[in-house]
Amino acid sequence: MHKDVERILVSEQEIEEIVGRMARQIDADYGKEDKKLLLLCILKGSVVFMGDLMKHLKTPLEIDFMRVSSYGADTKTTGNINIILDLVRKDIKQCDILIVEDIIDSGRTLSYLKRYLEFKGAKSVKTCTLLDKPERREVKFDADYVGAVIPDEFVVGYGLDYDEKYRALPYVGVLKRDVYSK
Ligand code: PRP
Repeated sequence: MHKDVERILVSEQEIEEIVGRMARQIDADYGKEDKKLLLLCILKGSVVFMGDLMKHLKTPLEIDFMRVSSYGADTKTTGNINIILDLVRKDIKQCDILIVEDIIDSGRTLSYLKRYLEFKGAKSVKTCTLLDKPERREVKFDADYVGAVIPDEFVVGYGLDYDEKYRALPYVGVLKRDVYSK
């Protein structure tokens, strides 16, 4: 275990099981109809989950990427999200988009992105998250596929960072308090 990690919250083996289960659910929903599944990875945190999930899926799919960030100090009150890398596709009206996130916290990112992609004309928009922290919610939002509901703790690993570090850890761990309260 990494020296800055207090304890493992979701182990490698648990993640493997969770991703397998989610992939089976997604295959059941997207594999049967005439759908054009587009997995949309929200950079950077979702990149590890996205890589694993797409390997497990049997449904034919395409992938794409967006990068967003909270929009300055106003975010809490306005819910503004800043698009750093946009989705540019001529075929968006034919796409059944599944947004892939590592974690839902306030709910603002996914709530905004879902509305944004629907406004852009996507055929359908659903959401999928590995981790969900409902205690932190500021806007009402439920993802269509949730891997694990977790308590309100500072988690890193499997894509999630603190100050851009720890993303490559193969598990989700709770960061030691003294690392971020220095
Ligand atoms: C995290 C996470 C989600 C968002 C969730 O991204 O990956 O995109 O925050 O928070 P919310 O529910 O409160 O909107 P972050 O801004 O840390 O960027 P990163 O993925 O590049 O680390």
